[in-house]
Amino acid sequence: MKGILLAGGSGTRLLPLTQTLSKQLLPVYNKPLIYYPLSTLMLAGIREILIISTPRDLPMIERLLGDGSQIGLSLHYAVQEKPNGIAEAFTIGADFLQGEPVCLVLGDNIFHSHELPHLLARATNRKEGASVLACRVSNPSAYGVVELDATGKPIRLVEKPAKPASNWAVTGLYFYDGQVHDIARSLRPSQRGELEITDINQIYLERGQLNIEFMGRGAAWFDAGTFDSLLGASQYVHMLEVRQGLMIGLPEEIAWRMNYISTDDVRATAKAMRNNPLGNYLLGLLDEPRAHA
Ligand code: G1P
Repeated sequence: MKGILLAGGSGTRLLPLTQTLSKQLLPVYNKPLIYYPLSTLMLAGIREILIISTPRDLPMIERLLGDGSQIGLSLHYAVQEKPNGIAEAFTIGADFLQGEPVCLVLGDNIFHSHELPHLLARATNRKEGASVLACRVSNPSAYGVVELDATGKPIRLVEKPAKPASNWAVTGLYFYDGQVHDIARSLRPSQRGELEITDINQIYLERGQLNIEFMGRGAAWFDAGTFDSLLGASQYVHMLEVRQGLMIGLPEEIAWRMNYISTDDVRATAKAMRNNPLGNYLLGLLDEPRAHA
C-alpha cells in the first residue's frame, strides 16, 4: 500500500503564523507538525509516500525530509496548485499511485493511542473497500460526521453539518482499495467548491464497503489547525513525553524500531544533533532492546 500525506491548505485560521510558513512546519512542542502524520503512515508500515503541498510550501518541506532514505522511506513530492479539496490528492497522485490501494493522511492530524498499531494493521490488511477512523469529539460541526441508526450502524456521512447527528468525527486518515481512483475522477466540486473526501467515503458506504473503526475513549486525536488545537497538541505531547521519557512522533525512532535503519544510522543522526534533547533521546534508546515501545 502506498501513502499520501496532504500538507496543503492556506492555513488562514492560523494567520499570521502561516503568513510565511507552512502550517505543517509549525512546532508541536519539539517537532514540526508534519512529523506526526508521517509517523502515523510509518506505523502503518507504509514506506512509499507522496507528499503534496502548495507551490510555496513544498520546497521547504522537501528541505526538511529529503528523499526519506535517512529514515528508510521513499518520499516523493507533488504540488497542489489551488486548494481544490482533499479528494484531488488522488488525481494529483495518479502517476505515483498506478491504481494501487492507498492510505491518505492529512498533514495536520495527530494520532496517539495504544490501540493505534492494531487499528492500522486491520485497515492495511483489509483487501477490499475503505477504512476510516472515527473519534468522539465535543465539536463535531467542524468535521465530517458519522450518522448512526438506532442499532449503531453507520447510515450517512455529512461534511461539517450545522446540526450534527452524532459526536463521531471522521478523522483525517483514510485507507482505500483501487476503486478510489475511478471514484475520485467522477467527483464534482461541492457547494464550497471543493472535491470532498466525505463524498468518496459516502460512495463506499453506499456500496456497503466502508469500514469505520471507532477509536476508544483513551485515544488522542488532534487536528492542529487552530491556535487552541495547536497549543493543545503541544501540551499533550509535552506532558506525555516528560512523564514517560518516550517521544511521540519521532520518525528516526520509528524507523529504527521497525528495522528500516540500523543502530549505526541512528548514532550518526544523533551525532549531528548533539547537545539537543532529540539527539540525546535517540542515543539513549540504543541502550534498550529495539522491540516496540
Ligand atoms: C477535513 C475533512 C473532514 C475531516 C477533517 C479531519 O476537514 O473534510 O471530513 O473530519 O479533515 O481533520 P478540514 O480540516 O479540511 O476542514
